[in-house]
Amino acid sequence: MAVIRSTIDTQSTTYKENHAAMKERVATLKERLAEARDSRSEKSKARLAEQNKLSVRKRLDRLLDRNTPFLEVGALAAYGQYDKKVHAAGTVAGIGVIHGREVMIHANDPTIKGGTVYPLGVKKSLRCQTICMENNLPVVYLIDSGGAFLPLQSEIFPDVDDGGRIFYNQAVMSKMGIPQISAVMGLCTAGGAYIPAMSDEVVHVKGTGAIFLGGPPLVKAATGEEVSAEELGGADLHCRESGVSDYKAEDEAQALAMVRECVRQLPGGCRSELAREESQEPLYDPEELYGIVSHELKTPYDVKEIIARLVDGSDFHEFKPLYGSTLVCGFARIHGYPVGILGNNGILFSESALKATQFIQLCDRRGIPLVFLQNINGYIIGKAYEAGGITKDGHKMVNAVATASVPKFTVMVGASFGAGNYGMCGRAYSPRFLWTWPCHEIGVMGGEQAADVLVTVKNDQLTRQGQEPLSEEMVQQIKGPVVDAARKEGDAYYSTSNLWDDGIIDPVDTRTVLALSISAALNAPLRDDKEGFGVFRM
Ligand code: COA
Repeated sequence: MAVIRSTIDTQSTTYKENHAAMKERVATLKERLAEARDSRSEKSKARLAEQNKLSVRKRLDRLLDRNTPFLEVGALAAYGQYDKKVHAAGTVAGIGVIHGREVMIHANDPTIKGGTVYPLGVKKSLRCQTICMENNLPVVYLIDSGGAFLPLQSEIFPDVDDGGRIFYNQAVMSKMGIPQISAVMGLCTAGGAYIPAMSDEVVHVKGTGAIFLGGPPLVKAATGEEVSAEELGGADLHCRESGVSDYKAEDEAQALAMVRECVRQLPGGCRSELAREESQEPLYDPEELYGIVSHELKTPYDVKEIIARLVDGSDFHEFKPLYGSTLVCGFARIHGYPVGILGNNGILFSESALKATQFIQLCDRRGIPLVFLQNINGYIIGKAYEAGGITKDGHKMVNAVATASVPKFTVMVGASFGAGNYGMCGRAYSPRFLWTWPCHEIGVMGGEQAADVLVTVKNDQLTRQGQEPLSEEMVQQIKGPVVDAARKEGDAYYSTSNLWDDGIIDPVDTRTVLALSISAALNAPLRDDKEGFGVFRM
């Protein structure tokens, strides 16, 4: 056993200040999640009741196995954007359990602008499909959508990662053998008609569910033909005549039961073997994380204090503990699953990058999933370090992260700046899941630093032209907007709103969220057969 001995003084003023600050952040997170979940206009709730429809959350309650976890993805997508009411980008999504099987659920919320799809709604759908493809997860689409949100159609329709990609991915997923089951619970118009059309099996609710390429108003305008939604694309027509749908349900409850049955009939997915041991609680209370993480991002703390509250028995077998100390690496278990953890204890030097590269190779060879705890300001800069080859050593780490084929999971527990974001498995490095803490900040560099760079560049330009350097007033005019933009765009809520991550989590839940993420990842092979890395610059 290599148990981490915590040196945290829970009675200190610093601990108490940090704890209070994080508690407040977590309270804000919970308020915002509750608002995204429940805040809907009276008009839309009345319309739902009038149509005898269940809310999305009630649909999920009936669809998923009782008392099983739902790993929600993008719960605060589109937060603060559009009219600030397109909660979760208009779609509830996440991994739930049906008949004991992990399944991605993607459900339109009809109480948000008729379930129409906004640009960030498209991005969220594509993210869900990526999760399915990377983790070999079946998907259930609960469709109740007026299709594209027409005022923003130019941002939804034409480009490579716009709406058409959703149906393209459905075809690719079908070829990959990923089961896709649709329940038609509202209108599926135009592009929306393709989601059921491209699925393996379609359950169709009588009365409220309809599929058509052009709805009744469009048909009337185009051809003069007057027809009701039920006649044009209802359950009876599509289950008896056209064959577009496969199962007719009398109501939503029956439809959801039918979807459950479709999942039950799927051949058992093969789960990857990962030698799991019995889970043990950490020796220290995870709520102490609140007091450890400084409320000032720039104040350092020991990442091993975080690891001690995430891993089973606080047992951490540290790799190369005396070398490259600004990066902590080691083996541990989370809810019994073996993991290799990399966590930052300061800026990345050549030694830390080399150590990371070796550790990532070790885990990849051994089939051990990687967990990155990201709190990083970047790689070291300066003449001596450039001469020492920091760029090529940083490259080795980035190369290893990009090409390691074991599942990778990232938690941004603090800063995520510069190339440090890449080396520590930022979004572009395809971690299977990426979660953040409410104190997280992200950017190419901090706002002050970016502003200083721009001031220096301008002053160098003026010197070349034989002019006086900028006055203090002009410096502030340049710096102000840069610092303000970095503060706004570096914020955890801005990040999650734009789906740069899979969600902000309460630090206390990190252990559970990671275990659920690992469990989902085990639906796909643990590693690529084509093992190996690219060329490491030596
Ligand atoms: N784009 C933008 N807004 C839309 C929309 C669309 N495609 N479809 C519906 N909305 C808006 C409505 O204007 C309304 O907004 P409001 O609450 O601010 O008044 C809200 O969504 C709800 O629509 P409403 O028609 O009152 O609700 P409903 O439950 O009776 O019907 C739909 C919902 C989606 C079935 C119905 O609105 C509809 O048929 N929409 C058009 C579908 C279509 O032709 N889409 C083609 C796009 S590919």
